[in-house]
Amino acid sequence: MSDMPAALEAANLHVRAGDHPAVRGVSAAFAAGQFTAVIGPNGAGKSTLLRALLGLTAIHAGEVRVDGRPLTTLTRAERARDLAFLAQGEPLPDSARVRDVVALGRGAGAWRWGLIPTRPWTQEDEDAVKTALERTDTRQFAGRRVSELSGGERQRVGLARALVAGPRYLLLDEPTNHLDLAYALELVRHLRCEVAGGLGVVAVLHDLNLAARADRIVLLHRGQVLAAGAPDTVLTPAHLHAAYGVRTRVVHDADRLLVIPED
Ligand SMILES: Nc1ncnc2c1ncn2[C@@H]1O[C@H](COP(=O)(O)OP(=O)(O)O)[C@@H](O)[C@H]1O
Ligand SMILES: [Mg+2]
Repeated sequence: MSDMPAALEAANLHVRAGDHPAVRGVSAAFAAGQFTAVIGPNGAGKSTLLRALLGLTAIHAGEVRVDGRPLTTLTRAERARDLAFLAQGEPLPDSARVRDVVALGRGAGAWRWGLIPTRPWTQEDEDAVKTALERTDTRQFAGRRVSELSGGERQRVGLARALVAGPRYLLLDEPTNHLDLAYALELVRHLRCEVAGGLGVVAVLHDLNLAARADRIVLLHRGQVLAAGAPDTVLTPAHLHAAYGVRTRVVHDADRLLVIPED
């Protein structure tokens, strides 16, 4: 285990979406304990790559590896535990209470909604729910219904549900899309705390100035990696012009990068 890379890796990955070659030979490592942003224009293959990394879509060629092991050799239970997904605009059950929604992420216990539990509910499950609620600042409204929450609060409940099984990697597809600036920054702050605890975060982000806060960025263009590395090596006017066809200025403000469109 020690000489295995602690990373979720794509090795020369080719994935089709319908007839369309959406991901074409992507190699990238998403390390545990790092926040990696995946950026690129619409249709670049970001969502397809994420789904392939999660084993949710058939791979045409290449391989996904989790800490050195081919994803295909993990059991369903191992996959469900190690990889968590917060999908784009993922709906939460409106009439359910927050605590129950988060508990559902444990895949245990007896559930009202006709799901068959694989094992009984334990004290460990109970503790994990409590921890997830605390870590995402959702404990104070654990008894409320989802319909009674603001957009930002809902997103944190989704995050709590994704974290409650104790994943090694969390993949998020445009998690800040419907959030205002304050909530988007708050979500990134929460993710950062989890990353400090060793979680590998892979987030598709549209906002380049949010992506600039990541440890690493992978820039996709037409299903291929156009650039990957530290934000200041990826967010260059040349890369951004090649990918988005837009002229930008990239300025350093204190320890931060800012991308300013000039068109
Ligand atoms: N089911 C499908 N059938 C055909 N083409 C698809 C399908 N799903 C996605 N695509 C195409 O694959 C490309 C990549 O899609 P996607 O991964 O969703 O891109 P992104 O998330 O970067 O916007 C796009 O050109 C899209 O139109
Ligand atoms: Mg997408």
